[in-house]
Amino acid sequence: MASEPPHIGKPDRPRLPPVIGHRGAAARAPENTLAGFRRAKALGCAWVEFDVRLTADGVPVLCHDPRLDRTTDRTGQVAAQTLAAIRTSDAGSWFAPEFAGERIPTLEAALLLCTGFDLGANVEIKADRGGEYAIAAAVAMTLGRLGERCPRVLVSSFLPSALAAFRALAPQVPRGILFRLIPRGWEAVAIRLGCLVIGADHRRLRPRRIKAIRDAGYELAAYTVNDPVRARRLFDLGVASVFSDMPDIILAASAGRLATRPWRGKEPFGEAA
Ligand code: G3P
Ligand code: MG
Repeated sequence: MASEPPHIGKPDRPRLPPVIGHRGAAARAPENTLAGFRRAKALGCAWVEFDVRLTADGVPVLCHDPRLDRTTDRTGQVAAQTLAAIRTSDAGSWFAPEFAGERIPTLEAALLLCTGFDLGANVEIKADRGGEYAIAAAVAMTLGRLGERCPRVLVSSFLPSALAAFRALAPQVPRGILFRLIPRGWEAVAIRLGCLVIGADHRRLRPRRIKAIRDAGYELAAYTVNDPVRARRLFDLGVASVFSDMPDIILAASAGRLATRPWRGKEPFGEAA
């Protein structure tokens, strides 16, 4: 039985499912779009992960890269363009013609869609250097404005400064710290930032580290897992969740094998509508 991390109390622990749709369902529909979340829901996801960045006029929108180039028909930095300009880009055609005209959604639109579809939302904060506080504040403000219309939420980031800022502004919202390689001092970082979830690149996760994280009472989520054999191995080792671009494959391969763990806490925002 895992012990509780020492800083437990606030916020409540998020109840993550074994499979989280990565950027929606990035191999099945254009990443970080509303169409992607609808597809993730249709494929059986209970939660989706997506990336947020700030526009030049301070609106949090969904985009993984600092630039629009890879995932839209436009070029340039997200942070250098207004929401109005960004909304004229096509975020679907690059993926497949059936998604032509798909727009980059605002964080607010994404969260409301998640609420409507009863999807949990893992909001990953991205920022250019120096922009960590501004995006953290914008995310906190958006969640606060939505209030009860918010879905179940986990806010995560690779950026400790963004998580520290977010914690100060919205301490009740569960947080996760992401690592590319989990450092020796991972637990001190988690305690300092009040994170209950550790996210890690599955390719650099070792069984001993998985056990230590689990034994210390943290949830461990591994990205990005598209191979069902690897997913099963990670679950067997104690990983709680995997982020997948093809959640249908992982869910199908894992059906019946995923242990249902007893839930000890409350939902962070109460049950989603
Ligand atoms: O949050 C897990 C995963 O999304 C982190 O990597 O680069 O896909 O945002 P990335
Ligand atoms: Mg991400």
